[in-house]
Amino acid sequence: MKIAVIGTGYVGLVTGTCLAETGNDVICVDINQQKVEMLRNGESPIYEPGLQTLLHRNIAEGRLNFTSNLAEAVKEAAVIFLALPTPPGGDGSADLSYVLGASRDIALITSSYKVIVTKSTVPVGTADKVKAMFEQYSDIQVAVVSNPEFLREGVAIEDFMKPDRIVIGTTDDRAKKILTELYTPYVRQGNPIIFMDERSSELTKYAANSFLATKISFMNEVANLCEKVGANVDMVRLGIGADERIGKRFLFSGIGYGGSCFPKDVQALAKSAQENEYDFKILNSVMEVNALQKTVLVDKIKKYYDGELSGKTFALWGLAFKPETDDIREAPALEIIEALLQHGANVVAYDPEAMANVKDLLGDKVAFADNQYDALRGADALLILTEWSVFRNPDFVKVGALLKSKVIFDGRNLFGLEQMVEHGFYYNSVGRKAISELKIESAL
Ligand code: UDX
Repeated sequence: MKIAVIGTGYVGLVTGTCLAETGNDVICVDINQQKVEMLRNGESPIYEPGLQTLLHRNIAEGRLNFTSNLAEAVKEAAVIFLALPTPPGGDGSADLSYVLGASRDIALITSSYKVIVTKSTVPVGTADKVKAMFEQYSDIQVAVVSNPEFLREGVAIEDFMKPDRIVIGTTDDRAKKILTELYTPYVRQGNPIIFMDERSSELTKYAANSFLATKISFMNEVANLCEKVGANVDMVRLGIGADERIGKRFLFSGIGYGGSCFPKDVQALAKSAQENEYDFKILNSVMEVNALQKTVLVDKIKKYYDGELSGKTFALWGLAFKPETDDIREAPALEIIEALLQHGANVVAYDPEAMANVKDLLGDKVAFADNQYDALRGADALLILTEWSVFRNPDFVKVGALLKSKVIFDGRNLFGLEQMVEHGFYYNSVGRKAISELKIESAL
Protein backbone atom coordinates (compact mmCIF):
# COMPACT_ATOMS: atom_id res chain seq x y z
CA MET A 1 0.00 0.00 0.00
CA LYS A 2 1.22 3.52 -0.70
CA ILE A 3 1.52 5.56 2.47
CA ALA A 4 2.55 9.13 3.25
CA VAL A 5 3.55 10.16 6.77
CA ILE A 6 3.58 13.88 7.47
CA GLY A 7 6.04 14.80 10.23
CA THR A 8 9.15 12.80 11.08
CA GLY A 9 9.14 13.36 14.81
CA TYR A 10 9.14 10.46 17.19
CA VAL A 11 5.72 9.08 16.22
CA GLY A 12 5.98 9.78 12.48
CA LEU A 13 9.39 8.20 12.12
CA VAL A 14 8.51 5.04 14.04
CA THR A 15 5.16 4.77 12.21
CA GLY A 16 6.70 5.26 8.75
CA THR A 17 9.56 2.86 9.39
CA CYS A 18 7.38 0.11 10.87
CA LEU A 19 4.81 0.44 8.06
CA ALA A 20 7.64 0.00 5.53
CA GLU A 21 8.88 -3.04 7.45
CA THR A 22 5.71 -5.00 6.57
CA GLY A 23 6.14 -4.24 2.86
CA ASN A 24 4.30 -0.95 2.34
CA ASP A 25 5.68 1.78 0.16
CA VAL A 26 6.20 4.69 2.56
CA ILE A 27 7.22 8.29 2.01
CA CYS A 28 7.83 10.53 5.02
CA VAL A 29 7.58 14.29 4.75
CA ASP A 30 9.26 16.94 6.86
CA ILE A 31 9.70 20.66 6.25
CA ASN A 32 13.17 20.50 7.78
CA GLN A 33 15.41 19.85 4.76
CA GLN A 34 18.43 19.09 6.93
CA LYS A 35 16.50 16.40 8.79
CA VAL A 36 15.30 14.93 5.50
CA GLU A 37 18.91 14.67 4.27
CA MET A 38 19.97 13.03 7.50
CA LEU A 39 17.15 10.50 7.30
CA ARG A 40 17.86 9.74 3.66
CA ASN A 41 21.33 8.72 4.80
CA GLY A 42 19.74 6.38 7.34
CA GLU A 43 20.71 8.48 10.35
CA SER A 44 18.08 8.59 13.08
CA PRO A 45 17.70 11.97 14.83
CA ILE A 46 16.52 10.18 17.99
CA TYR A 47 17.86 7.31 20.07
CA GLU A 48 15.32 4.49 19.94
CA PRO A 49 16.42 0.85 20.22
CA GLY A 50 16.05 -1.03 16.94
CA LEU A 51 15.05 2.00 14.87
CA GLN A 52 18.39 2.52 13.15
CA THR A 53 18.49 -1.08 11.88
CA LEU A 54 14.97 -0.89 10.47
CA LEU A 55 15.68 2.50 8.89
CA HIS A 56 18.75 1.15 7.08
CA ARG A 57 17.03 -1.98 5.85
CA ASN A 58 13.90 -0.29 4.54
CA ILE A 59 15.76 2.57 2.88
CA ALA A 60 18.17 0.10 1.24
CA GLU A 61 15.28 -2.01 -0.01
CA GLY A 62 13.55 1.07 -1.44
CA ARG A 63 10.36 0.94 0.66
CA LEU A 64 11.14 3.97 2.83
CA ASN A 65 11.77 7.42 1.40
CA PHE A 66 12.02 10.95 2.76
CA THR A 67 11.13 14.24 1.15
CA SER A 68 10.34 17.85 1.96
CA ASN A 69 7.95 18.01 -0.98
CA LEU A 70 4.43 17.49 0.33
CA ALA A 71 2.80 17.31 -3.12
CA GLU A 72 5.13 14.50 -4.22
CA ALA A 73 4.22 12.44 -1.15
CA VAL A 74 0.48 13.10 -1.22
CA LYS A 75 -0.08 12.49 -4.94
CA GLU A 76 -0.01 8.69 -4.91
CA ALA A 77 -0.70 7.88 -1.27
CA ALA A 78 -3.82 5.91 -0.37
CA VAL A 79 -3.37 6.69 3.31
CA ILE A 80 -1.87 9.86 4.76
CA PHE A 81 -0.80 9.87 8.40
CA LEU A 82 -0.60 13.21 10.19
CA ALA A 83 2.09 12.86 12.84
CA LEU A 84 2.61 16.48 13.69
CA PRO A 85 3.34 18.12 17.02
CA THR A 86 0.47 19.34 19.23
CA PRO A 87 2.39 21.36 21.82
CA PRO A 88 0.52 22.84 24.78
CA GLY A 89 -0.65 26.34 23.93
CA GLY A 90 -0.41 29.19 26.44
CA ASP A 91 -3.62 28.07 28.23
CA GLY A 92 -2.67 24.37 28.50
CA SER A 93 -4.87 23.18 25.62
CA ALA A 94 -3.22 21.49 22.62
CA ASP A 95 -2.08 23.81 19.81
CA LEU A 96 -3.57 22.45 16.56
CA SER A 97 -1.96 24.86 14.13
CA TYR A 98 0.44 22.26 12.67
CA VAL A 99 -2.26 19.63 12.19
CA LEU A 100 -4.77 22.03 10.67
CA GLY A 101 -2.15 23.81 8.55
CA ALA A 102 -1.02 20.51 7.03
CA SER A 103 -4.66 19.48 6.47
CA ARG A 104 -5.29 22.64 4.48
CA ASP A 105 -2.10 22.13 2.43
CA ILE A 106 -3.05 18.51 1.68
CA ALA A 107 -6.64 19.47 0.81
CA LEU A 108 -5.35 21.96 -1.74
CA ILE A 109 -3.38 19.30 -3.62
CA THR A 110 -5.55 16.20 -3.21
CA SER A 111 -7.12 14.88 -6.40
CA SER A 112 -8.55 11.50 -5.37
CA TYR A 113 -10.16 9.72 -2.36
CA LYS A 114 -7.70 9.30 0.51
CA VAL A 115 -7.75 8.16 4.10
CA ILE A 116 -6.42 10.98 6.28
CA VAL A 117 -5.33 9.60 9.65
CA THR A 118 -4.53 11.75 12.67
CA LYS A 119 -1.81 9.99 14.67
CA SER A 120 -1.03 13.05 16.75
CA THR A 121 -2.65 13.20 20.18
CA VAL A 122 -5.43 15.67 19.52
CA PRO A 123 -8.38 16.98 21.54
CA VAL A 124 -11.85 15.61 20.99
CA GLY A 125 -13.39 17.28 17.96
CA THR A 126 -10.18 17.62 15.97
CA ALA A 127 -11.29 15.11 13.31
CA ASP A 128 -14.27 17.39 12.68
CA LYS A 129 -11.95 20.38 12.31
CA VAL A 130 -9.73 18.47 9.86
CA LYS A 131 -12.85 17.44 7.92
CA ALA A 132 -13.93 21.06 7.78
CA MET A 133 -10.54 22.00 6.30
CA PHE A 134 -11.03 19.47 3.51
CA GLU A 135 -14.59 20.64 2.87
CA GLN A 136 -13.37 24.23 2.67
CA TYR A 137 -10.32 23.70 0.47
CA SER A 138 -11.18 20.68 -1.69
CA ASP A 139 -14.06 19.13 -3.64
CA ILE A 140 -12.64 15.64 -3.28
CA GLN A 141 -14.24 13.31 -0.76
CA VAL A 142 -11.81 11.98 1.86
CA ALA A 143 -12.16 9.99 5.09
CA VAL A 144 -10.74 11.63 8.21
CA VAL A 145 -9.84 9.01 10.78
CA SER A 146 -8.57 9.18 14.35
CA ASN A 147 -5.99 6.48 15.04
CA PRO A 148 -4.05 7.31 18.21
CA GLU A 149 -0.66 5.78 18.92
CA PHE A 150 0.17 4.15 22.22
CA LEU A 151 3.92 3.78 21.69
CA ARG A 152 6.25 3.91 24.65
CA GLU A 153 9.63 5.48 24.07
CA GLY A 154 12.42 2.94 24.41
CA VAL A 155 10.21 0.07 23.19
CA ALA A 156 8.40 1.90 20.42
CA ILE A 157 9.33 -0.54 17.65
CA GLU A 158 8.09 -3.50 19.67
CA ASP A 159 4.91 -1.60 20.59
CA PHE A 160 4.23 -0.75 16.93
CA MET A 161 4.95 -4.22 15.61
CA LYS A 162 2.91 -5.97 18.34
CA PRO A 163 0.38 -3.51 19.75
CA ASP A 164 -1.96 -4.49 22.61
CA ARG A 165 -4.71 -2.97 20.49
CA ILE A 166 -5.27 -0.66 17.56
CA VAL A 167 -7.95 1.98 17.97
CA ILE A 168 -9.57 3.32 14.81
CA GLY A 169 -12.11 6.10 14.96
CA THR A 170 -14.15 6.34 11.77
CA THR A 171 -17.61 5.62 10.42
CA ASP A 172 -16.38 5.48 6.79
CA ASP A 173 -16.62 1.83 5.62
CA ARG A 174 -14.05 2.24 2.84
CA ALA A 175 -11.52 3.65 5.32
CA LYS A 176 -12.25 0.81 7.76
CA LYS A 177 -11.47 -1.75 5.06
CA ILE A 178 -8.25 -0.04 3.97
CA LEU A 179 -6.96 0.34 7.53
CA THR A 180 -7.89 -3.23 8.46
CA GLU A 181 -5.80 -4.43 5.55
CA LEU A 182 -2.92 -2.16 6.55
CA TYR A 183 -2.91 -3.17 10.23
CA THR A 184 -3.73 -6.90 10.03
CA PRO A 185 -0.04 -7.93 9.87
CA TYR A 186 0.50 -6.28 13.27
CA VAL A 187 -2.28 -8.11 15.12
CA ARG A 188 -1.66 -11.68 13.93
CA GLN A 189 -1.37 -12.82 17.55
CA GLY A 190 -5.03 -11.92 18.05
CA ASN A 191 -4.95 -8.51 19.67
CA PRO A 192 -7.96 -6.44 18.64
CA ILE A 193 -8.52 -3.67 16.16
CA ILE A 194 -11.21 -1.67 17.92
CA PHE A 195 -13.44 0.45 15.70
CA MET A 196 -15.36 3.39 17.10
CA ASP A 197 -16.45 6.89 16.23
CA GLU A 198 -13.84 9.66 15.88
CA ARG A 199 -14.62 11.41 19.16
CA SER A 200 -14.42 8.25 21.26
CA SER A 201 -11.12 7.39 19.63
CA GLU A 202 -9.68 10.83 20.31
CA LEU A 203 -10.78 10.61 23.93
CA THR A 204 -9.41 7.06 24.29
CA LYS A 205 -5.85 8.29 23.91
CA TYR A 206 -6.20 10.98 26.57
CA ALA A 207 -8.09 8.65 28.89
CA ALA A 208 -5.41 5.93 28.54
CA ASN A 209 -2.51 8.25 29.31
CA SER A 210 -4.39 10.02 32.08
CA PHE A 211 -5.37 6.73 33.70
CA LEU A 212 -1.75 5.55 33.65
CA ALA A 213 -0.59 8.88 35.08
CA THR A 214 -3.27 8.51 37.79
CA LYS A 215 -1.91 5.06 38.66
CA ILE A 216 1.56 6.57 39.12
CA SER A 217 0.40 9.54 41.19
CA PHE A 218 -1.69 7.19 43.32
CA MET A 219 1.33 4.98 43.99
CA ASN A 220 3.49 8.01 44.73
CA GLU A 221 1.01 9.03 47.41
CA VAL A 222 0.95 5.48 48.79
CA ALA A 223 4.77 5.63 48.91
CA ASN A 224 4.72 8.91 50.79
CA LEU A 225 2.29 7.42 53.29
CA CYS A 226 4.46 4.28 53.60
CA GLU A 227 7.31 6.48 54.76
CA LYS A 228 5.10 8.08 57.41
CA VAL A 229 3.73 4.81 58.79
CA GLY A 230 6.86 2.68 58.43
CA ALA A 231 5.55 0.43 55.63
CA ASN A 232 7.44 -0.69 52.51
CA VAL A 233 5.91 0.37 49.18
CA ASP A 234 7.56 -2.56 47.38
CA MET A 235 5.53 -4.95 49.48
CA VAL A 236 2.34 -2.94 49.12
CA ARG A 237 2.89 -2.87 45.34
CA LEU A 238 3.24 -6.64 45.18
CA GLY A 239 0.29 -7.07 47.49
CA ILE A 240 -2.10 -4.98 45.43
CA GLY A 241 -0.64 -5.82 42.00
CA ALA A 242 -1.45 -9.51 42.43
CA ASP A 243 -5.12 -8.58 42.17
CA GLU A 244 -5.80 -8.85 38.44
CA ARG A 245 -8.26 -5.99 38.62
CA ILE A 246 -5.33 -3.75 39.60
CA GLY A 247 -2.52 -5.43 37.67
CA LYS A 248 1.22 -5.61 38.32
CA ARG A 249 2.33 -3.00 35.83
CA PHE A 250 2.72 0.74 36.19
CA LEU A 251 2.70 0.70 39.97
CA PHE A 252 6.23 1.96 40.54
CA SER A 253 6.58 4.96 42.78
CA GLY A 254 9.45 7.31 42.09
CA ILE A 255 10.20 10.97 41.46
CA GLY A 256 7.15 11.72 39.34
CA TYR A 257 6.22 11.00 35.75
CA GLY A 258 7.78 12.97 32.89
CA GLY A 259 8.18 12.67 29.14
CA SER A 260 6.47 14.16 26.14
CA CYS A 261 3.06 12.60 26.77
CA PHE A 262 1.79 12.24 30.32
CA PRO A 263 2.31 15.81 31.57
CA LYS A 264 0.97 17.30 28.35
CA ASP A 265 -1.96 14.92 27.94
CA VAL A 266 -3.21 15.06 31.54
CA GLN A 267 -3.12 18.85 31.35
CA ALA A 268 -4.88 18.91 27.97
CA LEU A 269 -7.63 16.54 29.14
CA ALA A 270 -8.25 18.60 32.27
CA LYS A 271 -8.41 21.71 30.11
CA SER A 272 -10.72 20.10 27.60
CA ALA A 273 -13.03 18.97 30.41
CA GLN A 274 -13.07 22.50 31.79
CA GLU A 275 -13.94 23.93 28.37
CA ASN A 276 -16.86 21.54 28.31
CA GLU A 277 -17.97 22.73 31.73
CA TYR A 278 -16.83 19.59 33.51
CA ASP A 279 -14.50 19.74 36.47
CA PHE A 280 -12.36 16.57 36.15
CA LYS A 281 -11.26 16.61 39.80
CA ILE A 282 -9.00 13.57 39.79
CA LEU A 283 -6.82 14.99 37.04
CA ASN A 284 -6.14 18.15 39.01
CA SER A 285 -4.95 16.02 41.92
CA VAL A 286 -2.85 13.82 39.63
CA MET A 287 -1.01 16.90 38.37
CA GLU A 288 -0.64 18.37 41.85
CA VAL A 289 0.76 15.12 43.26
CA ASN A 290 3.20 14.83 40.37
CA ALA A 291 4.50 18.36 40.84
CA LEU A 292 5.08 17.65 44.54
CA GLN A 293 6.68 14.27 43.86
CA LYS A 294 9.38 15.92 41.78
CA THR A 295 10.44 17.77 44.94
CA VAL A 296 10.52 14.89 47.46
CA LEU A 297 14.08 13.80 46.80
CA VAL A 298 15.53 17.29 47.23
CA ASP A 299 13.46 17.73 50.41
CA LYS A 300 15.03 14.56 51.80
CA ILE A 301 18.49 15.73 50.81
CA LYS A 302 17.92 19.10 52.48
CA LYS A 303 16.74 17.38 55.64
CA TYR A 304 19.77 15.08 55.70
CA TYR A 305 22.19 18.00 55.40
CA ASP A 306 20.20 20.32 57.73
CA GLY A 307 19.38 22.63 54.82
CA GLU A 308 23.05 23.29 54.05
CA LEU A 309 23.71 22.16 50.47
CA SER A 310 26.00 25.02 49.50
CA GLY A 311 29.37 23.74 48.25
CA LYS A 312 28.24 20.09 48.33
CA THR A 313 28.70 17.98 45.21
CA PHE A 314 26.07 15.53 44.06
CA ALA A 315 26.70 12.74 41.58
CA LEU A 316 23.64 12.03 39.41
CA TRP A 317 23.03 8.70 37.74
CA GLY A 318 20.40 9.23 35.06
CA LEU A 319 18.96 12.31 33.36
CA ALA A 320 16.49 10.94 30.79
CA PHE A 321 12.82 10.83 31.88
CA LYS A 322 13.03 7.03 31.62
CA PRO A 323 15.61 4.44 30.52
CA GLU A 324 16.41 3.52 26.90
CA THR A 325 15.82 7.01 25.58
CA ASP A 326 17.78 10.25 25.25
CA ASP A 327 14.56 12.23 25.78
CA ILE A 328 14.68 14.77 28.61
CA ARG A 329 11.32 16.45 28.03
CA GLU A 330 9.69 17.07 31.44
CA ALA A 331 12.35 14.84 33.01
CA PRO A 332 12.20 15.06 36.83
CA ALA A 333 16.04 15.19 36.76
CA LEU A 334 15.89 18.71 35.31
CA GLU A 335 13.88 20.06 38.25
CA ILE A 336 16.12 18.28 40.72
CA ILE A 337 19.22 19.78 39.09
CA GLU A 338 17.69 23.28 39.17
CA ALA A 339 16.83 22.91 42.86
CA LEU A 340 20.31 21.65 43.77
CA LEU A 341 21.98 24.47 41.85
CA GLN A 342 19.70 27.03 43.49
CA HIS A 343 20.89 25.79 46.86
CA GLY A 344 24.49 26.36 45.81
CA ALA A 345 25.36 22.69 45.25
CA ASN A 346 27.48 21.31 42.39
CA VAL A 347 26.19 18.60 40.09
CA VAL A 348 28.19 15.96 38.20
CA ALA A 349 25.99 13.82 35.97
CA TYR A 350 26.19 10.65 33.97
CA ASP A 351 23.54 9.23 31.63
CA PRO A 352 24.18 6.63 28.92
CA GLU A 353 22.28 8.61 26.23
CA ALA A 354 20.85 11.91 27.44
CA MET A 355 23.93 13.97 28.39
CA ALA A 356 24.18 15.80 25.05
CA ASN A 357 20.56 16.99 25.34
CA VAL A 358 21.10 18.24 28.91
CA LYS A 359 24.29 19.95 27.85
CA ASP A 360 22.40 21.78 25.08
CA LEU A 361 19.86 22.94 27.65
CA LEU A 362 22.00 23.75 30.68
CA GLY A 363 25.48 24.30 29.23
CA ASP A 364 28.23 24.26 31.84
CA LYS A 365 25.93 24.64 34.84
CA VAL A 366 26.35 20.87 35.19
CA ALA A 367 29.53 18.80 34.85
CA PHE A 368 29.33 15.56 32.88
CA ALA A 369 31.28 12.39 33.57
CA ASP A 370 32.53 9.84 31.02
CA ASN A 371 31.08 6.94 32.93
CA GLN A 372 29.00 6.24 36.02
CA TYR A 373 31.97 5.74 38.33
CA ASP A 374 33.82 8.90 37.25
CA ALA A 375 30.76 10.89 38.32
CA LEU A 376 31.24 9.68 41.91
CA ARG A 377 34.81 10.83 42.49
CA GLY A 378 34.78 13.06 45.58
CA ALA A 379 31.00 13.61 45.52
CA ASP A 380 29.11 13.95 48.81
CA ALA A 381 26.30 11.66 47.70
CA LEU A 382 24.94 9.67 44.78
CA LEU A 383 21.45 10.44 43.45
CA ILE A 384 19.73 7.91 41.20
CA LEU A 385 17.24 9.59 38.87
CA THR A 386 16.71 7.15 35.96
CA GLU A 387 16.52 3.36 36.26
CA TRP A 388 18.95 2.45 33.44
CA SER A 389 19.88 -1.26 33.66
CA VAL A 390 23.56 -0.38 33.90
CA PHE A 391 22.90 1.21 37.32
CA ARG A 392 21.12 -1.81 38.75
CA ASN A 393 24.04 -3.85 39.95
CA PRO A 394 27.08 -1.62 40.38
CA ASP A 395 30.33 -2.49 42.17
CA PHE A 396 29.30 -1.17 45.60
CA VAL A 397 32.81 -1.36 47.00
CA LYS A 398 33.97 0.94 44.20
CA VAL A 399 30.95 3.23 44.69
CA GLY A 400 31.72 3.51 48.41
CA ALA A 401 35.42 4.13 47.80
CA LEU A 402 34.87 6.87 45.21
CA LEU A 403 32.21 8.83 47.12
CA LYS A 404 33.35 11.18 49.87
CA SER A 405 30.72 9.59 52.12
CA LYS A 406 28.66 6.47 51.56
CA VAL A 407 25.33 8.19 50.94
CA ILE A 408 22.76 7.30 48.27
CA PHE A 409 19.42 8.97 47.54
CA ASP A 410 17.56 6.68 45.16
CA GLY A 411 14.56 8.09 43.33
CA ARG A 412 13.91 4.79 41.53
CA ASN A 413 14.24 2.15 44.28
CA LEU A 414 16.93 0.20 42.44
CA PHE A 415 18.54 -1.51 45.41
CA GLY A 416 17.37 -3.81 48.16
CA LEU A 417 17.44 -2.45 51.71
CA GLU A 418 19.34 -5.45 53.09
CA GLN A 419 21.92 -5.06 50.34
CA MET A 420 22.49 -1.46 51.38
CA VAL A 421 22.80 -2.38 55.06
CA GLU A 422 25.35 -5.03 54.09
CA HIS A 423 27.44 -2.54 52.13
CA GLY A 424 27.20 0.07 54.86
CA PHE A 425 25.48 2.87 52.97
CA TYR A 426 23.12 5.53 54.23
CA TYR A 427 20.36 4.81 51.71
CA ASN A 428 17.21 6.82 51.26
CA SER A 429 14.70 5.68 48.61
CA VAL A 430 10.99 6.22 47.90
CA GLY A 431 8.30 4.70 50.11
CA ARG A 432 10.75 2.64 52.15
CA LYS A 433 12.58 3.21 55.41
CA ALA A 434 15.89 5.02 55.18
CA ILE A 435 18.71 2.64 56.01
CA SER A 436 19.93 4.53 59.05
CA GLU A 437 16.50 3.87 60.64
CA LEU A 438 16.78 0.15 59.85
CA LYS A 439 20.19 0.01 61.46
CA ILE A 440 18.86 1.61 64.63
CA GLU A 441 15.95 -0.85 64.69
CA SER A 442 18.21 -3.88 64.31
CA ALA A 443 20.51 -2.55 67.07
CA LEU A 444 17.60 -2.34 69.52
C1 UDX B 1 3.55 6.95 27.47
C2 UDX B 1 2.51 5.84 27.32
O1 UDX B 1 2.92 4.70 28.09
C3 UDX B 1 2.33 5.47 25.87
O2 UDX B 1 1.31 4.49 25.75
C4 UDX B 1 1.94 6.73 25.11
O3 UDX B 1 1.80 6.47 23.74
C5 UDX B 1 2.99 7.80 25.29
O4 UDX B 1 3.16 8.06 26.68
P1 UDX B 1 6.22 7.12 27.44
O5 UDX B 1 6.04 8.59 27.68
O6 UDX B 1 7.20 6.68 26.41
O7 UDX B 1 4.82 6.44 27.05
O8 UDX B 1 6.72 6.49 28.82
P2 UDX B 1 6.15 5.52 29.95
O9 UDX B 1 6.95 4.28 29.96
O10 UDX B 1 4.70 5.38 29.90
O11 UDX B 1 6.56 6.36 31.26
C6 UDX B 1 6.07 7.67 31.49
C7 UDX B 1 6.56 8.22 32.79
O12 UDX B 1 5.98 7.53 33.88
C8 UDX B 1 8.07 8.11 33.00
O13 UDX B 1 8.55 9.32 33.57
C9 UDX B 1 8.24 6.96 33.97
O14 UDX B 1 9.39 7.06 34.77
C10 UDX B 1 6.98 7.12 34.79
N1 UDX B 1 6.54 5.85 35.42
C11 UDX B 1 6.11 4.82 34.66
C12 UDX B 1 6.54 5.74 36.81
O15 UDX B 1 6.92 6.68 37.54
N2 UDX B 1 6.08 4.58 37.37
C13 UDX B 1 5.64 3.53 36.63
O16 UDX B 1 5.24 2.51 37.23
C14 UDX B 1 5.66 3.65 35.23
